[in-house]
Amino acid sequence: MGNTLRWGILGTGAIARKFVAGLAHSPGAVIAAVGSRSQAAADTFGNEFSIPRRHATYEALAADPEVDVIYISTPHHCHQPNTLLCLAAGKHVLCEKPFALNERQAREMVEMARARKLFLMDAMWTRFLPVFAKVRELISAGAIGEPRMIQADFAFRADFEPSSRLFNPSVGGGALLDVGIYPLALSSMVFGTPTSIQGSASLGASGVDEQAAVVLGHPGGRLSLLACGIRTTTAHEAVIAGTEGRLKIHSPWWRGSSVTLIPEGERTSANPFSGETERRFDESYPGNGYQFEADEVGRCLRAGRTESAAMPLDETLSLMRTMDALRASWGIRYPGE
Ligand SMILES: NC(=O)c1ccc[n+]([C@@H]2O[C@H](COP(=O)([O-])OP(=O)(O)OC[C@H]3O[C@@H](n4cnc5c(N)ncnc54)[C@H](OP(=O)(O)O)[C@@H]3O)[C@@H](O)[C@H]2O)c1
Repeated sequence: MGNTLRWGILGTGAIARKFVAGLAHSPGAVIAAVGSRSQAAADTFGNEFSIPRRHATYEALAADPEVDVIYISTPHHCHQPNTLLCLAAGKHVLCEKPFALNERQAREMVEMARARKLFLMDAMWTRFLPVFAKVRELISAGAIGEPRMIQADFAFRADFEPSSRLFNPSVGGGALLDVGIYPLALSSMVFGTPTSIQGSASLGASGVDEQAAVVLGHPGGRLSLLACGIRTTTAHEAVIAGTEGRLKIHSPWWRGSSVTLIPEGERTSANPFSGETERRFDESYPGNGYQFEADEVGRCLRAGRTESAAMPLDETLSLMRTMDALRASWGIRYPGE
């Protein structure tokens, strides 16, 4: 693969617009084609972003020989069929979060990508923001000692609209899959797969989780305290607390651009940051931040890799399992499950 990566955009909704704007900041990325369920929407989107090839079906986009990799930006319940369609046509795929409705769907996607030796990644874009590279660097350097506890929330206020993708169970509605996945993925980045999963959710009139609090246990007594919701707005802060200090990723942490290190304890040679006063790291970036996940796709494909080491498919499967367990404990099953 050369330096140029030819992207196809599958679906023309709100996040597709943001992702395409982000691609303008990703070196080597070219938006070659867009696919929609209608020619009119493909043309409108194509005109808006000067995309040369516009397809009236997703099948035509998947078959387009001028496309290397397809970004899936449809509602949750479409991620699995749309991804399978693209993989079957020989295309690499970046699939929006939540990767699928459940682990069973996700496993089918992962198995097909692995069998066909095609690239597939969960579009957990937050993971690739510069501030999270700084967080990983500080943790590895021992800046907070041993990480012991994570607190993170992501809840926003939406009006109740039973037919919308947020509230409609038939399209995978609910807070957990839409925004709870962000704090779950933060916890997973630091602590890995949980060893215990507990949660409490309030279900709304349409039967989906409108808000939830989750406690994950990890080896050695580490804990994650996470919250999500779609009816009220919370602080959108994340704190990673360790034995020698803590990291506060400033609000809104899931598209964060700065982190403050708050060290605690005496200066030790093992921890070069201990004994310091608070230090804020500015990790601001150009554009809207969606370019960094696209950069990762480009890096992997140019290196001949079919998975990202930063967002591995086994981790995606683990995240889906955690969400399955939480939903099962709340009695939420989507139609067809
Ligand atoms: N990474 C992020 O920051 C972020 C932010 C928001 C949303 N998302 C994720 O992106 C996905 C899409 O969210 P969105 O807010 O962009 O949704 P949206 O505005 O409703 O757009 C979804 C698009 O999917 C296509 N589509 C295919 N089947 C559909 C169906 N049955 N009903 C409605 N649309 C259908 C439509 O495009 P055509 O008409 O062209 O076919 C539609 O424009 C969700 O899974 C969400 O979790 C991610």
